[in-house]
Amino acid sequence: MKIVKVTKENLEYGRQSIELFFDKKTFNQDFLDLPNNVMYVALDETMVIGMVYGYEFDRPDGKEKQLFIYSIDVLKDYRKKHVATKLLEHILKPLETGYYRDAFVITNHTNDAAMNLYRKAGATQVTPRDDQDILFVWKNK
Ligand SMILES: CC(C)(COP(=O)(O)OP(=O)(O)OC[C@H]1O[C@@H](n2cnc3c(N)ncnc32)[C@H](O)[C@@H]1OP(=O)(O)O)[C@@H](O)C(=O)NCCC(=O)NCCS
Repeated sequence: MKIVKVTKENLEYGRQSIELFFDKKTFNQDFLDLPNNVMYVALDETMVIGMVYGYEFDRPDGKEKQLFIYSIDVLKDYRKKHVATKLLEHILKPLETGYYRDAFVITNHTNDAAMNLYRKAGATQVTPRDDQDILFVWKNK
């Protein structure tokens, strides 16, 4: 398994992701025109088995950016093999260099897989436990 960033040079991976995880046929290439949109796929050979995407935000008070992870999905047959963990490692890498000030994701408290995934990937839960929507945050070190 390997993780690859989706770019205009490997659009096929974007297309596969759209069919697998969005049930649509057409990848919106405009997504890749903006450098603040980021998408990574997990591959088994050349087949997409997982995908994560998000948005980088600029801040008015400094150069560091913030990342909002919008969606992460792994094909059913490939779950519980740390594919999502690897995808997160890649999309969160810029935290280590300080390029991102922090990164965040929202999930529902009933989504055990996502709750465990984010906890084990080192995120801090910053909303009260009894909220339905849970915000997880990673801070740069
Ligand atoms: C959430 C999801 C992306 C996790 O993908 P994954 O590749 O199976 O996750 P990982 O194998 O990296 O698991 C990370 C940790 O979460 C735990 N976990 C994964 N699936 C779990 C489940 N169904 N129930 C409880 N814990 C789970 C794992 O045990 C693992 O911990 P470990 O290191 O002790 O093994 C996957 O279940 C999925 O695609 N779900 C549908 C889409 C979704 O809900 N996305 C999140 C939206 S916020």
